[in-house]
Amino acid sequence: VGLHGVIPAAGIGSRMGGSTPKQYLNLNGETLLEHSLRALLAVPGMQSVTVALHQADRFAGSLALLSDDRVNTVIGGAERADSVLAALHAVPGGAGDWVLVHDAARPCLQQADVLRLVEHAVSRGEGGILAERVCDTVKLADSSGHVEKTLDRSRLWRAQTPQMFRLGELTQALEAVIARNLPVTDEASAMECMGYAVNLVPGSASNLKVTLPDDLDLAAWYLSRAEG
Ligand code: CTP
Ligand code: MG
Repeated sequence: VGLHGVIPAAGIGSRMGGSTPKQYLNLNGETLLEHSLRALLAVPGMQSVTVALHQADRFAGSLALLSDDRVNTVIGGAERADSVLAALHAVPGGAGDWVLVHDAARPCLQQADVLRLVEHAVSRGEGGILAERVCDTVKLADSSGHVEKTLDRSRLWRAQTPQMFRLGELTQALEAVIARNLPVTDEASAMECMGYAVNLVPGSASNLKVTLPDDLDLAAWYLSRAEG
């Protein structure tokens, strides 16, 4: 069974601000996208990685890693799910192959974590995602900003990427949620909507998504610690 990667890198980084989209910001000598792509390419057995780029991308051309034989690029779409679906359509694999979808904006992915996910999914024959247990007490708010209730923290997890599913099943699930206009912010949500099991595989706090300016400093620190 084949193993492939998809990297959505077609966002504009509106919460980060600035003129360069965050996936092209420099972090310890390489862009976020290069760090994320390198991590997927390093997974044993990884046959291809398809990267979704913004239609007006001006930065990808200068990244040598995107010319790797195993890397393809496609034009992404308006929402993350559209970008991932465009990439899935270009993956050179069969419906039963596995695909790992990983955010360009998560540059600190550790091999030990991704290998734990791959091993878990392959041994169970079910998809899964890296995730972290929630440490904070989490409140559900009503529309006026009052607490409606406190959620049971022992059951709460923060979804990360990679998210690993069968290529055919994930493609169909994303097509279905997009056709029904359901808002999904990760691949697992689409799989859940279609009734598939999604395994939660414990990851690391270091695999943060760079979203706000302060996240860059934290990511730089995690990367230098890992390269230590
Ligand atoms: N992404 C994408 N296509 C989109 C939107 C997002 O490929 N239409 C990608 C981003 O490039 C990023 C990942 O999905 O690697 C996670 O999205 P997010 O952190 O929300 O990035 P942006 O959408 O770029 O940031 P923002 O929401 O702040 O604008
Ligand atoms: Mg976004």
